[in-house]
Amino acid sequence: MDSIQIKDKKFTVSIKEEDILKEVSRVANEINRDLAGKNPLFLSVLNGSFMFTADLMKRITIPCEISFVKLASYQGVASTGAVKEVIGINEDLSDRTVVIVEDIVDTGLTMQRLLETLGTRGPKEIHIATLLVKPEKLKVNLNIEYAAMSIPNDFIVGYGLDYDGFGRNYKDIYTVVNE
Ligand code: IMP
Repeated sequence: MDSIQIKDKKFTVSIKEEDILKEVSRVANEINRDLAGKNPLFLSVLNGSFMFTADLMKRITIPCEISFVKLASYQGVASTGAVKEVIGINEDLSDRTVVIVEDIVDTGLTMQRLLETLGTRGPKEIHIATLLVKPEKLKVNLNIEYAAMSIPNDFIVGYGLDYDGFGRNYKDIYTVVNE
Protein backbone atom coordinates (compact mmCIF):
# COMPACT_ATOMS: atom_id res chain seq x y z
CA MET A 1 0.00 0.00 0.00
CA ASP A 2 1.64 3.20 -1.15
CA SER A 3 -0.89 5.63 0.21
CA ILE A 4 -3.58 5.63 2.87
CA GLN A 5 -6.37 7.95 3.91
CA ILE A 6 -7.05 8.59 7.59
CA LYS A 7 -9.99 10.87 8.24
CA ASP A 8 -9.21 14.17 6.44
CA LYS A 9 -5.56 13.42 5.69
CA LYS A 10 -3.72 11.52 2.99
CA PHE A 11 -0.42 9.80 3.75
CA THR A 12 2.20 8.19 1.51
CA VAL A 13 4.61 5.46 2.51
CA SER A 14 7.98 6.86 3.56
CA ILE A 15 9.84 4.15 5.50
CA LYS A 16 9.23 0.50 4.69
CA GLU A 17 9.12 -2.17 7.37
CA GLU A 18 12.36 -3.82 6.23
CA ASP A 19 14.24 -0.53 6.53
CA ILE A 20 12.72 0.11 9.96
CA LEU A 21 13.78 -3.35 11.13
CA LYS A 22 17.37 -2.85 9.96
CA GLU A 23 17.67 0.19 12.18
CA VAL A 24 15.86 -1.48 15.07
CA SER A 25 18.38 -4.34 14.86
CA ARG A 26 21.26 -1.88 14.89
CA VAL A 27 19.92 -0.19 18.02
CA ALA A 28 19.35 -3.57 19.70
CA ASN A 29 22.94 -4.58 18.98
CA GLU A 30 24.21 -1.33 20.49
CA ILE A 31 22.12 -1.87 23.63
CA ASN A 32 23.26 -5.51 23.90
CA ARG A 33 26.85 -4.31 23.73
CA ASP A 34 26.55 -1.28 26.05
CA LEU A 35 24.27 -2.63 28.75
CA ALA A 36 25.55 -6.19 29.10
CA GLY A 37 25.77 -7.19 32.77
CA LYS A 38 23.47 -4.36 33.88
CA ASN A 39 20.15 -6.25 33.87
CA PRO A 40 18.35 -3.24 32.37
CA LEU A 41 14.70 -2.52 32.95
CA PHE A 42 13.06 -1.41 29.69
CA LEU A 43 10.13 0.95 30.23
CA SER A 44 8.01 1.10 27.10
CA VAL A 45 5.81 4.18 26.77
CA LEU A 46 2.37 3.18 25.52
CA ASN A 47 0.56 3.44 23.20
CA GLY A 48 2.85 4.58 20.41
CA SER A 49 5.86 2.42 21.14
CA PHE A 50 4.16 -0.97 21.20
CA MET A 51 5.43 -2.15 17.78
CA PHE A 52 8.91 -0.74 18.25
CA THR A 53 9.09 -2.33 21.70
CA ALA A 54 8.09 -5.75 20.36
CA ASP A 55 10.61 -5.69 17.51
CA LEU A 56 13.36 -4.23 19.69
CA MET A 57 12.89 -6.68 22.55
CA LYS A 58 12.95 -9.69 20.20
CA ARG A 59 16.50 -8.62 19.38
CA ILE A 60 17.69 -7.94 22.93
CA THR A 61 19.73 -10.93 24.03
CA ILE A 62 21.01 -9.78 27.45
CA PRO A 63 19.11 -10.52 30.68
CA CYS A 64 16.53 -7.76 31.17
CA GLU A 65 13.03 -6.89 32.32
CA ILE A 66 10.30 -5.13 30.38
CA SER A 67 7.46 -3.06 31.72
CA PHE A 68 4.98 -0.54 30.35
CA VAL A 69 4.00 2.96 31.36
CA LYS A 70 1.47 5.42 30.04
CA LEU A 71 1.24 9.17 30.01
CA ALA A 72 -2.03 10.60 31.20
CA SER A 73 -2.86 14.20 30.36
CA TYR A 74 -4.31 16.30 33.09
CA GLN A 75 -4.90 20.00 33.36
CA GLY A 76 -2.08 21.57 35.32
CA VAL A 77 -2.80 24.28 37.83
CA ALA A 78 -0.12 26.50 36.30
CA SER A 79 -0.62 28.42 33.09
CA THR A 80 1.47 25.86 31.19
CA GLY A 81 -1.77 24.08 30.29
CA ALA A 82 -1.84 20.32 29.84
CA VAL A 83 0.77 18.49 31.91
CA LYS A 84 1.42 14.79 31.53
CA GLU A 85 1.54 12.39 34.41
CA VAL A 86 3.40 9.09 34.16
CA ILE A 87 1.21 6.21 35.29
CA GLY A 88 1.86 2.51 35.78
CA ILE A 89 5.35 2.43 37.27
CA ASN A 90 5.07 -0.61 39.50
CA GLU A 91 8.73 -1.56 39.64
CA ASP A 92 11.31 -0.47 42.17
CA LEU A 93 13.69 1.65 40.11
CA SER A 94 16.25 2.23 42.84
CA ASP A 95 19.74 1.41 41.63
CA ARG A 96 18.40 0.09 38.32
CA THR A 97 19.61 0.72 34.80
CA VAL A 98 16.46 1.99 33.07
CA VAL A 99 15.91 2.29 29.32
CA ILE A 100 12.94 4.41 28.24
CA VAL A 101 11.49 3.05 24.99
CA GLU A 102 9.60 5.75 23.06
CA ASP A 103 8.04 6.00 19.63
CA ILE A 104 9.13 9.51 18.71
CA VAL A 105 10.90 12.49 20.25
CA ASP A 106 9.41 15.60 18.72
CA THR A 107 9.83 18.72 20.90
CA GLY A 108 11.33 16.47 23.59
CA LEU A 109 9.02 17.81 26.28
CA THR A 110 7.40 14.42 26.87
CA MET A 111 10.81 12.80 27.26
CA GLN A 112 11.94 15.53 29.61
CA ARG A 113 8.88 14.93 31.75
CA LEU A 114 9.58 11.18 31.81
CA LEU A 115 13.20 11.74 32.82
CA GLU A 116 12.14 14.06 35.65
CA THR A 117 9.55 11.63 36.99
CA LEU A 118 11.68 8.51 36.74
CA GLY A 119 14.68 10.38 38.13
CA THR A 120 12.93 10.87 41.47
CA ARG A 121 12.82 7.09 41.99
CA GLY A 122 16.54 6.61 42.44
CA PRO A 123 17.63 4.78 39.29
CA LYS A 124 21.36 4.24 38.77
CA GLU A 125 21.14 5.43 35.17
CA ILE A 126 18.48 6.25 32.58
CA HIS A 127 18.99 5.74 28.85
CA ILE A 128 16.73 6.81 26.00
CA ALA A 129 15.80 4.51 23.12
CA THR A 130 13.48 6.00 20.52
CA LEU A 131 12.30 4.77 17.16
CA LEU A 132 12.29 8.27 15.69
CA VAL A 133 13.58 11.73 16.39
CA LYS A 134 12.69 14.98 14.64
CA PRO A 135 15.89 16.97 15.28
CA GLU A 136 14.50 20.22 13.82
CA LYS A 137 11.73 20.30 16.43
CA LEU A 138 13.77 19.51 19.55
CA LYS A 139 13.30 22.23 22.16
CA VAL A 140 15.22 20.70 25.04
CA ASN A 141 18.66 19.26 25.42
CA LEU A 142 18.41 15.48 25.58
CA ASN A 143 21.07 12.80 25.43
CA ILE A 144 19.38 10.43 22.98
CA GLU A 145 21.81 7.53 22.86
CA TYR A 146 19.67 5.09 20.93
CA ALA A 147 17.67 6.54 18.04
CA ALA A 148 16.71 4.19 15.22
CA MET A 149 15.98 6.97 12.69
CA SER A 150 15.93 10.75 12.30
CA ILE A 151 13.16 12.25 10.19
CA PRO A 152 12.23 15.71 8.91
CA ASN A 153 9.61 17.80 10.58
CA ASP A 154 6.57 16.11 8.97
CA PHE A 155 3.66 14.35 10.62
CA ILE A 156 3.81 10.57 10.29
CA VAL A 157 1.69 7.54 11.13
CA GLY A 158 2.10 3.77 11.16
CA TYR A 159 4.27 1.27 13.01
CA GLY A 160 2.55 2.25 16.26
CA LEU A 161 2.10 5.96 15.61
CA ASP A 162 -1.35 7.41 15.15
CA TYR A 163 -3.36 10.26 13.75
CA ASP A 164 -6.31 10.84 16.06
CA GLY A 165 -6.15 7.23 17.24
CA PHE A 166 -5.95 5.64 13.79
CA GLY A 167 -3.02 4.29 11.77
CA ARG A 168 -1.10 2.50 14.50
CA ASN A 169 -1.62 -0.88 12.84
CA TYR A 170 0.32 -0.27 9.62
CA LYS A 171 3.68 -2.05 9.36
CA ASP A 172 5.31 0.75 7.36
CA ILE A 173 5.65 4.43 8.24
CA TYR A 174 3.62 6.97 6.24
CA THR A 175 4.13 10.72 5.92
CA VAL A 176 1.29 13.21 5.59
CA VAL A 177 0.70 14.73 2.16
CA ASN A 178 0.27 18.48 2.41
CA GLU A 179 -2.12 19.46 -0.32
P1 IMP B 1 7.03 15.72 22.20
O1 IMP B 1 6.66 15.88 23.65
O2 IMP B 1 6.78 16.97 21.42
O3 IMP B 1 8.44 15.20 22.01
O4 IMP B 1 6.00 14.71 21.57
C1 IMP B 1 6.11 13.35 21.71
C2 IMP B 1 4.81 12.65 21.41
O5 IMP B 1 4.03 13.33 20.41
C3 IMP B 1 5.08 11.28 20.86
O6 IMP B 1 5.22 10.32 21.89
C4 IMP B 1 3.89 11.03 19.96
O7 IMP B 1 2.86 10.45 20.70
C5 IMP B 1 3.47 12.40 19.49
N1 IMP B 1 3.99 12.70 18.13
C6 IMP B 1 4.95 13.58 17.80
N2 IMP B 1 5.15 13.63 16.47
C7 IMP B 1 4.28 12.73 15.93
C8 IMP B 1 4.02 12.29 14.57
O8 IMP B 1 4.61 12.74 13.58
N3 IMP B 1 3.05 11.34 14.44
C9 IMP B 1 2.37 10.81 15.49
N4 IMP B 1 2.60 11.18 16.77
C10 IMP B 1 3.54 12.13 16.99
